[in-house]
Amino acid sequence: MKSKILRMLHESCGFVSGQELSDRLEVSRTAIWKDIKALEADGYVIEAVRNRGYRLIEEPDVLTKESCETYIDTEAIGKNLIVYDKTDSTNNRLKSIGEEGAVHGTVAVAELQEAGKGRLGRSWVAPAGAALTFSILLRPSVEPAKASMLTLAAALAVSEAIDELTGLHTQIKWPNDVVCNSKKLVGILTEMSADMDSIHYVVVGIGINVNITEFPDELKTKATSLMLETGKRVLRSSLLAEVLKKFEVCYEKFMVSGGFAVLKSDYEARLANLGRIVCVLEPGGEWRGECLGLAEDGALLVKADDGSVKSIISGEVSVRGGYGYV
Ligand code: BTN
Repeated sequence: MKSKILRMLHESCGFVSGQELSDRLEVSRTAIWKDIKALEADGYVIEAVRNRGYRLIEEPDVLTKESCETYIDTEAIGKNLIVYDKTDSTNNRLKSIGEEGAVHGTVAVAELQEAGKGRLGRSWVAPAGAALTFSILLRPSVEPAKASMLTLAAALAVSEAIDELTGLHTQIKWPNDVVCNSKKLVGILTEMSADMDSIHYVVVGIGINVNITEFPDELKTKATSLMLETGKRVLRSSLLAEVLKKFEVCYEKFMVSGGFAVLKSDYEARLANLGRIVCVLEPGGEWRGECLGLAEDGALLVKADDGSVKSIISGEVSVRGGYGYV
């Protein structure tokens, strides 16, 4: 009920009377008062004025079920929400409850991951309380080969959500890093359980550097955060809700059309290296070429020096800018 009270306080520009809250939520005014006190204990600053009611003055940047549900406005993605204060990895949590049958769209969020995972077997470290680390469980009825396109869809959704909320102009470093001013803001790790011809579930894990003010020396030139780029704090619960909303739209488009082609032009409009020289690092060696955009299946098209156009599929291949990380 606390999230319903918060939602009503948000929706109103001024005061909401205790009577209106109790009528709409069908509970006593005493129950409302108790929940208001509980919200205050959670860090919300709520003004209470006799004969006028309650007004939200300030909200803490915490990730709780209430804070997230206040903002989430989707049909399926995030309707089942699990919030951890601390866990190993939200991807691991969803994989384990995915095995037990958790519903499509289940989202797991953590204030702190103690064993966050990155791509290519790396770890993903984010300080408690300053990052947004979460995963989405999906059960798409498409062939397993298309699962990697969901990662591209997620990168697009995150980039769109960040721009909408902050006014930044983020870009995507293929396949799935969201970058700003040539530094990484977001990492995405997708994992899948499937057999030969059907997907059991896909877990899309997203880590966003939100209110991080400092990175270790070795990352300073490569990583950034929303706080460093905008100079302002971003409320992580509202960012989560915006990402889920944008992702739901991208996911629906992907499912209805049965592929990535429908998202290709939006993705390319954000592609950091479009028309530039990129360096393709393959297990067998590295080579340079001009980035031409994406194929309909989400592969990166790179024109080699001999004029041939190669289709790069994500996996063990890394693509960097010709002259730096992006
Ligand atoms: C990368 O290497 O760029 C991908 C990083 C993905 C990190 C996110 S944080 C939430 C989810 N849980 C994990 O353990 N990893 C992903």
